[in-house]
Parts: sequence; C-alpha cells; structure tokens
Amino acid sequence: MQKRQKTEIPFHVPFVSGEEEGYLKEVIKRGEFSGDGYFTRLSEQWLEHFTRAEKVLLTSSCTHALEMCAMLCNIQPGDEVIMPSFNFVSAANAFVLREAKVVFIDIRPDTMNIDEQLIEAAINGQTKAIVVVHYGGVACEMEAIMKVAARYGLKVIEDAAHGIGAWYKERHLGTIGHLGVLSFHASKNIHCGEGGALLINDPEMVQTAEVIREKGTNRKAFISGAVEKYSWVSLGSSYLASELNAAFLYGQLPHIEKVNAFRLSVKAEYERRLQNMGHLGYSSCPPFCFSNGHIFYIKCESEQVRDSLRQSLENKGIEAFFHYIPLHSSLAGKNFGRFSGVEKYTTVESSKLLRLPSYFGFAGSETVCAAIEEFFDE
Ligand SMILES: Cc1ncc(COP(=O)(O)O)c(C=O)c1O
Repeated sequence: MQKRQKTEIPFHVPFVSGEEEGYLKEVIKRGEFSGDGYFTRLSEQWLEHFTRAEKVLLTSSCTHALEMCAMLCNIQPGDEVIMPSFNFVSAANAFVLREAKVVFIDIRPDTMNIDEQLIEAAINGQTKAIVVVHYGGVACEMEAIMKVAARYGLKVIEDAAHGIGAWYKERHLGTIGHLGVLSFHASKNIHCGEGGALLINDPEMVQTAEVIREKGTNRKAFISGAVEKYSWVSLGSSYLASELNAAFLYGQLPHIEKVNAFRLSVKAEYERRLQNMGHLGYSSCPPFCFSNGHIFYIKCESEQVRDSLRQSLENKGIEAFFHYIPLHSSLAGKNFGRFSGVEKYTTVESSKLLRLPSYFGFAGSETVCAAIEEFFDE
C-alpha cells in the first residue's frame, strides 16, 4: 500500500473576506454578545433583501433551523414526513425528535434531488410535510412539488443548506416552500463557523418562530415593549445565533456573488478538463435553476472504481469526498423511517459519487484532473 502524502490540495478552505475582524471588534466595543442584537438584525435584513424571503431569523445552525421547522409545522407523534434518503441527517433528526415517521423516497439521478414524480405515491392520511434538499445548490423541481403539496394540504420545507445565492426560476432557494433553511457552517460557500437561518415565507408563522427561537418565551415581545414581563409560552429551545457569529457572517454576506461566481468558474474548468473522459458523469444543473457551484462531483462507473480513485487521489495529497450514506440504510434510518416505492437510484448513484476540491481562490483543477487522468490511464 502506498504511503499517504501530506495534503497538498485540501477539499475545502473556508472563505475569509477580511471584513470580519472589524465587525468582531465592534461587537466587543458595543458589549452586546448574546443573540438577536445589532449584527443579528443587520444580517437578517441583508438576507431578507437578498433572498426576498418574507422573514429571516438567524439561528445557531441549519440543523436548529430544521428543528424549528418541525415545531412550526406542529408535527405530532405518528405523523409522516416525506424526504429523500440521499440526505444529511439533520432533517430526519429534526422530525424524529417530534416522534414523526420519516418516509424516504428515491432521487433523480441527474441532480441527486428528490424525484418530484414519486412524492404523490408516498402520501397517505398521516403525511404532514415534504422536506426537499437542493443538493449542491441545484434546485429541486419546486413547481411540481408545490402543486402536489397544495393538493394534499401539506407543508413544504426547503433544505437549502447548500443554497445561498442559488435560484429556481428567479426565486431564491428556500423562499418557495412554506419554510426554508440555510447553513452558514464553515464548509459552505460563506459562513460564520457554525450558523444557519430560517426563511419564513408564511407570515402567520413569524411570531411563533420568534417564540420557538427564544426557548419558548415571549422575550422578543417583551424587548419590543409589547408585554410587561416575559415568560414561558410554548415549546422552544435555544436557537439564537450569538452576536459574534452574526458579526462574522455580516462580514461575509456582501461577498456571496463573488464567491459563487468563482466556484462556478471552478466547475466550468473541471468540466472543460474532464470532458474527454466519457466514462465519468458530472453534477448537472437543469435550465430552471441557477446554481452557486457549492459542490462539484463526478460519478464513476462503480463504487469500487470511485473508492480506488479516491484512494489514489489521497495518495497524491488530494482530498476528495463521497456523500451521503443513504439514510434508509443506516441504523437510525431503519429504526425511525421506511422507504416508500422502488429504490432505483439512491444507493447506486450515491455509491459512484465523488466530490472534488472547490473553494474561493482554488487553483488546483489542473493538478486534480491530471491525477484523475493518470488513475484511469493506469
Ligand atoms: C443538506 C444539509 N442539511 C442540513 C445540514 C446541517 O447544517 P448545519 O451544519 O449548519 O447544521 C447540512 C450540513 O452540511 C446539509 O448538508
């Protein structure tokens, strides 16, 4: 076995704009560190203007924003929630915490997103909501999804963790369903270390969401002078982002279009260099969406080839990662969920997928592509 080389090309390098430090110093100067302060409001207003969401609430993570969604949809024990199995664990956990049953369905092989045509067959009397994931910042077919949800009176939650600055027919991801979530984890195009946002598109949910984010209290109403004392009014938890995170994020937000444009240029460069390797598949973006280049992946002909390629890249100091182990095949997925319909693509397509390095300032596509070519030549 070859010895692992020192990492020459990391998979990701978190973006830093240079403006963050000044804003962090301002937080210290203002002496206001906990959530829902000056920088939280600035970041929320910026995001409301940019995404055109009815209301944005900054949260401590996207995972927490998803937990808020489950509470806002009033999920009760025994309710069913439909989502793709090719998925991060956070959406499933959020609904299982409310004792819902997760109903996994298959994906489309072109985008790795939920297959909108399979949703209707998975709906029954217990179904309460549909969670869609815009994988890699590439939009799901939202028109079809909203139509089927309206027909059955279901809530739609868009997991746009990957989707800042990505659009579906000129609507920002996360603003089409009833609720949407964004992630500002360090692995995302822009970030604040750990953080997220809840996008509320149904105005009737705003007040309840503010209570849920504030540990189930009406503290927000108290601060605005609407009530004399604040107290526990309903279910909630501690989902506020700290002012330090909000300030860091505020130093990143204005740079999103520059970062996304760069990542899209990396994607184009990869595609150009790999185009002669006919046996590889790539991330694809249907005409109805404008992506943000969050993920560039290739698909090998089999899991075995994918794993050998990943190992060969690692031996050359290049980090490349797979994504996700299908939830329905996991221990918790089996305990808390079931697969509805035929599982045609989820396992086989995810087992072939390999994400290549991409980040703002990345200049290694030539080296990565040469290493891939070398692997196949061998
Ligand atoms: C699709 C998806 N949803 C939710 C999350 C959770 O995001 P966070 O780390 O901000 O909680 C992730 C994390 O990468 C993700 O990929």
